Amino acid sequence: MAASELNPPPRLLMGPGPINADPRVLRAMAAQLVGQYDPSMTDYMNQTQALYREVFRTTNEQTLLIDGTARAGIEAALVSLVRPGDRVLVPVFGRFGYLLAEIAERCGAEVLIIEVGWGEVFAAEQIEQAIRTHRPALLALVHGDTSTTMAQPLADIGAICRQHDVLFYSDVTASLAGNDFAADDLGLDAATAGLQKCLGGPSGSAPVTFSPRAVEVINSRKRIEAGIRTAGDAAHEASPGETIRSNYFDLAMIFDYWGPRRLNHHTEATSMLYGARECARLLVAEGMDAAVERHRLHGAAMLAGVQGLGLGVFGDIAHKMNNVVAVRIPDGVDDAGVRGALLDGFGIEIGTSFGPLQGMVWRIGTMGYNARTDAVLTTLAALEQVLRRAGAQVTAGGGVGAAYEVYADAAVTG
Ligand SMILES: Cc1ncc(COP(=O)(O)O)c(C=O)c1O
Repeated sequence: MAASELNPPPRLLMGPGPINADPRVLRAMAAQLVGQYDPSMTDYMNQTQALYREVFRTTNEQTLLIDGTARAGIEAALVSLVRPGDRVLVPVFGRFGYLLAEIAERCGAEVLIIEVGWGEVFAAEQIEQAIRTHRPALLALVHGDTSTTMAQPLADIGAICRQHDVLFYSDVTASLAGNDFAADDLGLDAATAGLQKCLGGPSGSAPVTFSPRAVEVINSRKRIEAGIRTAGDAAHEASPGETIRSNYFDLAMIFDYWGPRRLNHHTEATSMLYGARECARLLVAEGMDAAVERHRLHGAAMLAGVQGLGLGVFGDIAHKMNNVVAVRIPDGVDDAGVRGALLDGFGIEIGTSFGPLQGMVWRIGTMGYNARTDAVLTTLAALEQVLRRAGAQVTAGGGVGAAYEVYADAAVTG
């Protein structure tokens, strides 16, 4: 088969992620490869670890990349931390809570779920009560769930977990760098992410971080592959029942690969590492507080814009993530028709939704490289035209006008 040159259509990706990658990240990814143990490569690995400590706001030594999309980070964390039979508590407030429960179950955990309605978040007391009742070994909690746009408050949960001797893990894929977050201050033992949201890169690399308490659990399950083991390693062999049930996601071995031993594991995905390093380098240069503020501003402008058009917004806005909004589809308007018209006429992609929200809301993101004034204003202008043609009652100029006001106010106060 003769395939033509790859030439993707120009798109403005304003859904809940993936978003357009920052061109500087794409350029970094096009750099030539070096050998796996080339001093420049091991330097890049060390730099990447240091940069992600700043992004996660942690001093955790074990801060590194898992090769794979965000769920590779989730799988690595859960399969390495959870022993078969361990109890794992998962508070579910959207699609990604179910994903954590599903992965924990596949790791052999006894999974206990508590739920609130989509569009809501948990009070710390509800989580503490469930911990008292179920006595889990680990709490697995999504921070920002793009399926509902809610950001679960994490303050107080770390202290509750310490008090009850529970490991605290959070999936911060959708929220990291766009919403307030500091792994150490929150008392987290593990956090995992992906590049394709507020980090401004493509999916395919999962930044992760583990506290010394989590590392102790993981290393107690250590088993080094026979072909690379040396005499001194035999003493570290975990008993067969303890062994981590995945080779690829065995964090004990991955720590040795990223650490001073450089013990061979997988072949690091060099181009993805270049990209992940550039994502973090750009954020650290901007400043993490400034990055969160940028997401807050453009998220506020988009929210004001859709409301200015006269559209309804789904969920508890007080707990909405900065970087995504769920817009109610007006009665009688065809969900797929509007998204298709935005894509065909304007090259703009907005997101559909899952489960109980399918056909009820669109999810519009303002994140990473696309947390920009021009991206917000262009999207609102296009949405107004497409909605009007689809028969919806929208306020003429109300979207761009309201967003413009938010930017004008920020310019005065900022
Ligand atoms: C909160 C959350 N967790 C996990 C994932 C899964 O990420 P991936 O598709 O990169 O594996 C996503 C993706 O949207 C997400 O938003």
